[in-house]
Amino acid sequence: MFEQAGPLNLNKDMDESRQGEVFFQEAPVRDGHQRSFYIESYGCQMNFSDSEIVASILGEVGFQPTREMETADLILVNTCSIREKAEETVRKRLQVFNKQKRQRPDLMIGVLGCMAERLKAKFLEEEKLVDMVVGPDAYRDLPKLLANAEEGEKGVNVFLSREETYADISPLRLDSNGVTAFISIMRGCDNMCSFCVVPYTRGRERSRNAFSIVSEAQDLFDRGYREVTLLGQNVDSYKWENPETKEVVNFAQLLEMTALVHPDLRIRFSTSHPKDITDEVLYTMARYENICNYIHLPVQSGNSRILELMNRTYDREWYMDRVRAIYRIIPDCAISSDIITGFCTETEEEHQESLSMIEFANYSMSYMFAYSERPGTPAAKKYADDVPEEVKKRRLDEVIRLQTQIAYRHNKADIGKTFKVLIEGDSKRSELEFKGRNSQNKMIVFPKKPGLRPGDYVMIRITEATSATLRGKIETGD
Ligand code: 5AD
Ligand code: SF4
Repeated sequence: MFEQAGPLNLNKDMDESRQGEVFFQEAPVRDGHQRSFYIESYGCQMNFSDSEIVASILGEVGFQPTREMETADLILVNTCSIREKAEETVRKRLQVFNKQKRQRPDLMIGVLGCMAERLKAKFLEEEKLVDMVVGPDAYRDLPKLLANAEEGEKGVNVFLSREETYADISPLRLDSNGVTAFISIMRGCDNMCSFCVVPYTRGRERSRNAFSIVSEAQDLFDRGYREVTLLGQNVDSYKWENPETKEVVNFAQLLEMTALVHPDLRIRFSTSHPKDITDEVLYTMARYENICNYIHLPVQSGNSRILELMNRTYDREWYMDRVRAIYRIIPDCAISSDIITGFCTETEEEHQESLSMIEFANYSMSYMFAYSERPGTPAAKKYADDVPEEVKKRRLDEVIRLQTQIAYRHNKADIGKTFKVLIEGDSKRSELEFKGRNSQNKMIVFPKKPGLRPGDYVMIRITEATSATLRGKIETGD
């Protein structure tokens, strides 16, 4: 699952009616003052999605989101532990928040997410000004922890659940463009990749009630949204048993159920696991025009020995076979990847196989990282982190350089083609241009035309390409 970082900006559809269960009902206004929270999210899309669940839970106890840290009554940081750098970023942000707290002692600070889970109560010892440490499965406890913090009592809840999916909570969409939204379909991960901290920070895998997912998609569509991304650490192992009928819904079936909400609602999903992605999923994608032709299929390494050490449970051949199946069943599908360079004992030849995999799979883009050892993971326990930092970095540069070339080639091949684009909003650079994505998840920028607005679909002919973006014109039919 790919990462983003930075403040999650708030507001937009704050006053949408919410169906979330009420857990704690307190007076929304205290001493004549509307209380507010400021939240920053780091890490994967799942974390951003979790922040929207947190926002909904806080809304029930009278806290409104604000973009202004300086006036907030509560500052939350939803953290990521995936690499050391992610944790360092959060520590730096905490210094900024702590400065606020020194000026305003009533301010409460909470640390959420994966770092909270990894460090637990130790966090309170290390960061004296933090009031609350709350793991990814404990957000329902936030109102109680908040009430305690207001009484000066610090709190930790890092209980990992086997059941929690927050299925009944209607997320409060933060920083929404009103067109695209995430829907979390499962939580946790049972894969145990040797490099990865996620199984320890997010617990066991569990799938959310399929009907609650479909109804969230329907609700979003009714509110004008036109694209949903179904999120899970490994969506292909989604499996939900209907407690009444005992019927089991798998990921292909869930995809179909969501695609049937409306032909104008686009469906995306992330992340797929090469060992689990089935032909049934691929045929379902091919059958529905509104299921986007884009698969994020992290390879991690192109070499079978390294894949084995990573405990990815597939080898190079298996991965290549899945790629061939994708291009056979969905010829215009785009594939993207995650790649780690310099994993324990990786040789130059093995690194070359990651490079050749980028060529072979013809990735439209990749998220690329130097290996970062994480305490407590199987790799940290079993293998020496023996590839020197500068070698990891050089290999990473090579991977990035090649991926940039391949992405450019991929994008150049689109010049002259026409794509159906969902308008997401103004382009970054100009109010005279819109940006939107095609089915393959490529960002396309094009000049506006009166009458069009975000949420509309428009046919765009591609005229220019860089390695990151396509530019085009509205197809007029002549
Ligand atoms: N070091 C470097 N990259 C990592 N990832 C996960 N754990 C590590 C680690 N210890 C990468 C993987 C994963 C993505 C989300 O982050 O490529 O797919
Ligand atoms: Fe997401 Fe947690 Fe993994 Fe970071 S460590 S990418 S927040 S699951």
